[in-house]
Amino acid sequence: MEKTYLMVKPDGVQRNLIGEVVARFEKKGFQLVGAKLMNIPRELAEEHYGEHKERPFFGELVDFITSGPVFAMVWQGENVISTARQMMGATNPKDAAPGTIRGDFGVTVGKNVIHGSDSPESAEREIGLFFKQEELAEYSKLINEWVY
Ligand code: PPS
Repeated sequence: MEKTYLMVKPDGVQRNLIGEVVARFEKKGFQLVGAKLMNIPRELAEEHYGEHKERPFFGELVDFITSGPVFAMVWQGENVISTARQMMGATNPKDAAPGTIRGDFGVTVGKNVIHGSDSPESAEREIGLFFKQEELAEYSKLINEWVY
């Protein structure tokens, strides 16, 4: 089953949006296979956002993501990578449709509530950066056979 890495960013955690975000993916029919509240060490943040190293906002991005706890998660389900991105909405909340997480809760691109892997390759890489294999649950069957 396809897996993705999702993370409630420090603004979402401080604004008590963890439950709201988790509820949306649960209600959709996806299955939570790993989760933890953590402070991201600076080196891990730099590695996670490594592809943006040359961009002018890189320092700001790393400062922000290390500024307070994040809620790191792994979710699974059919097409979860692309569907989760749709549920998150556009990167800049001003362009994010109402009904999406960023459209409903975000205002600025810097504090846009949630991160989600954008491809199967980044999902695998990001899950590996944040979780050990033994931290991921294995279900004997999918949570709701009526979803599939
Ligand atoms: S995307 O979704 O990867 O195409 O988005 P992108 O525009 O490339 O942005 C990558 C991440 O950088 C964040 N970002 C910013 N942070 C601070 N300031 C500015 N100006 C800014 N622009 C983009 C953006 O929220 C993306 O973070 P993640 O965690 O990947 O969503």
